[in-house]
Amino acid sequence: MRIAVFGTGYVGLVQGSVLAEVGHDVLCVDVDASKVEGLKAGRIPIYEPGLEDIVRKNHAEGRLNFTTDAAEAVKHGRIQFIAVGTPPDEDGSADLKYVLAVAATIAEHMEEPKVVVTKSTVPVGTADKVRAKIVEVLGARGRSDLHFDVVSNPEFLKEGAAVADCMRPDRIVIGTSDPESEELLREVYAPFSRNRDKLIVMDVRSAELTKYAANCMLATKISFMNEMANLAERLGADIEMVRQGIGSDQRIGYHFIYPGAGYGGSCFPKDVKALIHTAREVGFEPKVLQAVEDRNEEQKSVIFDKIVAHYGSDLRGRTFALWGLSFKPQTDDMREAASRVVMEALWKAGAKVQAFDPEAMEEAQRIYGDRDDLMLCGTKEATLRDADALVVMTEWQAFRAPDFDLLKEKLKSAVIFDGRNLYEPARMARRGFAYYAIGRGLTE
Ligand code: UGA
Repeated sequence: MRIAVFGTGYVGLVQGSVLAEVGHDVLCVDVDASKVEGLKAGRIPIYEPGLEDIVRKNHAEGRLNFTTDAAEAVKHGRIQFIAVGTPPDEDGSADLKYVLAVAATIAEHMEEPKVVVTKSTVPVGTADKVRAKIVEVLGARGRSDLHFDVVSNPEFLKEGAAVADCMRPDRIVIGTSDPESEELLREVYAPFSRNRDKLIVMDVRSAELTKYAANCMLATKISFMNEMANLAERLGADIEMVRQGIGSDQRIGYHFIYPGAGYGGSCFPKDVKALIHTAREVGFEPKVLQAVEDRNEEQKSVIFDKIVAHYGSDLRGRTFALWGLSFKPQTDDMREAASRVVMEALWKAGAKVQAFDPEAMEEAQRIYGDRDDLMLCGTKEATLRDADALVVMTEWQAFRAPDFDLLKEKLKSAVIFDGRNLYEPARMARRGFAYYAIGRGLTE
């Protein structure tokens, strides 16, 4: 099948290369010429396990190509995926300008029937707006005779496991009421549904809401657990025990009940805000979603609050080693990362930060540039020199079993603030550390 993908961000690039991997003929289009040139040369703008290999291989074998020429892409694909960004507006709603611009481009250049598929996370009702835009442009061209359909096909991949998620999806949601579009998308996704039918076909609006409902449910689980963790601390209970105690109930499950320093990334914070906005637009006050969002905002400061509780609010002259800058492991993405909230609060209170992350160093440099109160270190050990305490913000494997003797030797005092509950409090106490984690009240 000949497929065009608009947007070579996370979703577009991963989806495009995975579709090429199973044999489709994919042309990815992006407005950023240097990005397109880089991709042609096998340079991947993001860190994502397995992505580089699959892009290079499929490009070399001719099934995956890149262009800045939108007209060529429209001509190429029977199916047109829209996978461009939907950044949040100031009021939290998703900004559709890129999505609608692509819709207009498709309508400008199409000469035969097209199935337009929205893959970006877009608010309920967007397919209708895309449809209206295409109708408008086709009308202006005098080509209202051209047939097209707009399908919602939300993406559920996780950063850090994006290729694997796309190759082996739990489900594929297709929102369309047009049997012909359904049949085409069944053909596109047949290679991913070989053992069982993973396609769930529904109306467009339900598909659009499914995406938000899934992310908001996961965010709710996390905020709920963070609330329990904060409560556990005050009640002298250990949230890690509670987590195991409830996760073993299959109705609850072990996934996404890890307490921590708050959820970050490009999806949960944005999608929760966007759904709150959507709800208000239709005159409905979303109480649970608002609480999920509020809890998360506060949670991102919990580690800083513990630092202040230990040292007082004036942190001038203090230096903190910080492990983990990305919003989660296996990515260099620092969007909405809790590390940023902590780091910025430390700076405001006069402290210096010596940070290390296995992948996000360049990203940190890009975001913060050169400043006196941030030293980006080449190794996790290098952050420790003359630091008052260690702050752990991301659960990278490399941080799970550090050399605690070395930590004690290098740090000015044996103090650890752990935003991801990586270590055992009792053991840390025996080793002589003051160890502050999330929701482990028995141990402080
Ligand atoms: C999330 C969803 O998991 C994907 O299914 C979805 O497709 C994607 O958003 C999207 O909409 O594009 P992602 O943002 O890559 O994926 O990352 P997650 O693994 O979901 O983690 C999000 C945040 O929640 C991270 O900051 C992580 O540290 C935090 N988290 C996760 C917890 O604090 N506790 C948990 O138990 C799990």
